Amino acid sequence: MDYRHIDVTPMTPTIGATIHGVDLNNVATDAVYDEIREALWRHHVVFFRDQPIEPEAQVALGRRFGELTRHEFMETIDDDGQVQRIVQEGYGISPNSRWHTDVTFRARPNMVGILRAVELPPIGGDTLWCSTGAAFDAIPDPIKTMLLGLDAEHDMFWSRRWKSSGEVERSLESEIRELEENPIAIHPAVINHPVTGRLTLYINSNWTKKFVGVDLELSYGLIGMLWEWVKKPEFQVRFKWEKDSVAIWDNFATQHLATLDYEPHRRTMHRVIAGSAIPTLDREALPEHLRPPTSPPRSLTRAKAARVAAA
Ligand code: SIN
Repeated sequence: MDYRHIDVTPMTPTIGATIHGVDLNNVATDAVYDEIREALWRHHVVFFRDQPIEPEAQVALGRRFGELTRHEFMETIDDDGQVQRIVQEGYGISPNSRWHTDVTFRARPNMVGILRAVELPPIGGDTLWCSTGAAFDAIPDPIKTMLLGLDAEHDMFWSRRWKSSGEVERSLESEIRELEENPIAIHPAVINHPVTGRLTLYINSNWTKKFVGVDLELSYGLIGMLWEWVKKPEFQVRFKWEKDSVAIWDNFATQHLATLDYEPHRRTMHRVIAGSAIPTLDREALPEHLRPPTSPPRSLTRAKAARVAAA
């Protein structure tokens, strides 16, 4: 596509582009938003420099991608609870410093994230994104076929296994409420991107717990292999923030990670998350050579039971 209203410069052959020629506080026409969306679906994450957008402008920008959604645990800075403040200071871990796609424990995860750098450490604190479509493309066909036949459980509480003394303690009541409000979500291990249809890997190290019908030990090994796979530099772009840099990422085409290398300095970001979709895979539309078997996977216990019944 030729852009008529914005300048788009790819940062790698696979993922990431910088956009110039836009003032996000004063976007002139709908056509500019159309081109920003087009660049986003094509490059998966787009970056802008020198955009001191106020929370209202960040909310308005988010609405161009769909309805804004709140986040269960995040502190917010506006009355409507839509602009999240992500602050890291001192020593300790952050759930954002592991590769993840946002809120996959929901039935309808958000489509887009918009992050603005408000306060930065003297050096460090870069964010990395990887293309989960490129990661899937590079997998050999027999393993693709296996993954295309699997669904996976995404459990909000699964990320607590990383818990350390750096994480905020919650009361038992709030833990129970969160558990009730966030039952396990089941998503295909590979999905069609909701806009482009591209096949994209949908497994992440924060919330993907196990494959449906596959024992935990086996799932854990296979899922762990995929966490490692997305870390290949060929799938990634790394962004060095400046104050008032803005990133918009496609949450259905990427994973991201905030580098935690600036302790004990303070880093503050403002984020909105917008739009949402149910992750789906059209298995009927897959090319013949990638079609998975139609029988559902069976856990060890079910396989034993079936053997006993057949004997
Ligand atoms: C996030 O994980 O959404 C935030 C990333 C960052 O703080 O760089």
